[in-house]
Amino acid sequence: MEVFRERRRRVLAALDGVALLISAPETIRNHDVHHAYRQDSDLFYLTGFEEPESILVMSSVHPEHQSVLFVRERDPEREVWDGARAGVEGAKASCGVDATFPISEFEAKIGDYLEGADTLHYVLGQQPSFDTIVLEGIEKARARGRSKKAWPQTIRHPQALWHEMRLIKSDAELEAMRRAATISAEAHCRAMAACQPGMYEYEIEAVLKQTFLTAGAARVAYNPIVGSGPNATVLHYVENRRQMQDGELLLIDAGCEYAFYAADITRTFPVNGRFSEAQRQVYDVVLAAQDAAIAETKPGSNIDAVHEVAREHLVRGMVEMGLLEGDVATLIEDDSYKRYYMHRTSHWLGMDVHDVGAYYVGGECRPFEPGMVITVEPGIYIAADDEKAPEAFRGIGIRIEDDILVTEDGNVNLTANVPRKPDEIERVCLA
Ligand code: GLY
Ligand code: MN
Ligand code: MN
Repeated sequence: MEVFRERRRRVLAALDGVALLISAPETIRNHDVHHAYRQDSDLFYLTGFEEPESILVMSSVHPEHQSVLFVRERDPEREVWDGARAGVEGAKASCGVDATFPISEFEAKIGDYLEGADTLHYVLGQQPSFDTIVLEGIEKARARGRSKKAWPQTIRHPQALWHEMRLIKSDAELEAMRRAATISAEAHCRAMAACQPGMYEYEIEAVLKQTFLTAGAARVAYNPIVGSGPNATVLHYVENRRQMQDGELLLIDAGCEYAFYAADITRTFPVNGRFSEAQRQVYDVVLAAQDAAIAETKPGSNIDAVHEVAREHLVRGMVEMGLLEGDVATLIEDDSYKRYYMHRTSHWLGMDVHDVGAYYVGGECRPFEPGMVITVEPGIYIAADDEKAPEAFRGIGIRIEDDILVTEDGNVNLTANVPRKPDEIERVCLA
């Protein structure tokens, strides 16, 4: 409770007006069945509250209530079916906010909380049906404005407030991220050891998920990609139904979520445990690009610089392998390399796999600071039907992805427990 209270204190210290955070919506999968529920990261970050139908209001203008939580009321009948609810009193005790109210009173009360505030910090457009309620609340506050009190004339995205805080990870957050990274690394090692020609991609997905859940991870951080052979070149492949063949590569992009923090790891390894010459050639290029990009991940550098370093290595390798012809600078300049490397190299990582935080500040790419975590994930993807590519390389897709914490004097690879070097990978595969 103290961790969440302290976070709210920090937001309140910078808050000019009112901030409104809404729980993630529950989504129906089909009759009477919901998709598994996961709280909105922002709301969890500031409350630790995991129930749906909840709203946090923070105010720098209300005379008594700086933090208010609207929650579901206790309902013994529903609780028989869905499990216990904190209720109005329980939520107040467990979250340490100044006041709690039933969610059913939100529409009646929101006008009161908006009164006196010039600015509302709220993600407009995230839940459109809720926007209407918020805008009506503003209208109510305005209609009372014949009094001297202000009403929100500005709605601001909260990026500058708690998203800035989320970008720099505290020691406690890093502990959760390390745990997510360690469990996910273990899952990748097990997948390498388990994989055999003739198995199906979903059998490897099962190994990954079994490892995550057995270790106490709540869920996957995103749908695992288990793409063998030509599927390794499909960037968002999540079907995972194919039978894996001798001589192919398997690309796995999978990470768990532990205590609301994500890991995001990709490894590519031979289904039979031994890289072919062509596979190793491409692999070595991607590995060298990743090594250089990781070395670039340090205070003062930035995410564009990391991308540029990786891209330079990849494009040079593409030319050496005969995938592209011409001079490296021109192939970058005219985007020709995007035929084989179509995504960027890094994103912020945290509670969300593609985490919050501004990438550019004042038009400049933001310099890295200790406590930021990024992925470094270069790749080369050569479509099976790419007739321009030398035949030996067609159908090869390789990505290597690690989670890199920026520290005072450089960086720490949180996911270093999974081997990246081809010889080490072969050793784990054949163990
Ligand atoms: N797994 C999602 C990503 O690598 O960005
Ligand atoms: Mn990633
Ligand atoms: Mn990934």
